[in-house]
Amino acid sequence: MTTVLKLGGSVITEKDSPETLDDDALSAVADDVAGADVSDLVVVHGGGSFGHHNAAAHGVTTENGSHETTAVADIHGAMKTLNESVLAHLRDRGVPAVPVHPLSAARRDAEGALTLFTEQVAAMLDEGFVPVLHGDLVVHDGEGVTVVSGDELVVDLADTLDADRVGLCSTVPGVLDEDGAVVARIESYEDVADALGGSDATDVTGGMAAKVRELLALSAPANVFDADGVGPFLAGESPGTRID
Ligand code: IPE
Repeated sequence: MTTVLKLGGSVITEKDSPETLDDDALSAVADDVAGADVSDLVVVHGGGSFGHHNAAAHGVTTENGSHETTAVADIHGAMKTLNESVLAHLRDRGVPAVPVHPLSAARRDAEGALTLFTEQVAAMLDEGFVPVLHGDLVVHDGEGVTVVSGDELVVDLADTLDADRVGLCSTVPGVLDEDGAVVARIESYEDVADALGGSDATDVTGGMAAKVRELLALSAPANVFDADGVGPFLAGESPGTRID
């Protein structure tokens, strides 16, 4: 049974202070992971105030790239620093966490399609490790390097590893309806089209609407929840919004 868990960057970092960890929040999440009895777990974390701040400083996005090695040093370097903190918090609690840096394990073609070389992740799982990936830079045909978000990695991993469950932990307790209440279950985009924008609406923010569409396309069920949902999700419950 393979589980993919994404920890949003805004959950584990202080959003408004560049390169600052939210140690209490990361410790609480690491406690939940350590306390869970999950056989094949892959963790992916976002960039928060480590990734976005550095990417913006170099004008690098998921589409606009750079060939500057200083951009790679700053953006990838900051993400590796954050990754090492996540690993250390997990290791300290006995979780056999090991790093996977997408810059060395993924690429984008000229159309922007991502290929993640997941053999490495699968081999780590087979050896009993918990691979910990992160939003990062990837080499991109014709663009140099561009940003890859943790959400993109989760979707790719879920498909290629044939994951059984996917969990996305962010700062909101789930997908919210027009009244701000958590929607318990989404089985088609029409269930939330009014709250998130009509089915033809483009998602200019790259926010929840795009996330819901991508998660609906997965074969595995996904849950969207906040930090309080991590423990219940890993215990097999269905916190927040279930999307399947
Ligand atoms: C961003 O990853 C990575 C970089 C900007 C280098 P995410 O897009 O997954 O990060 P969060 O979860 O939104 O912070």
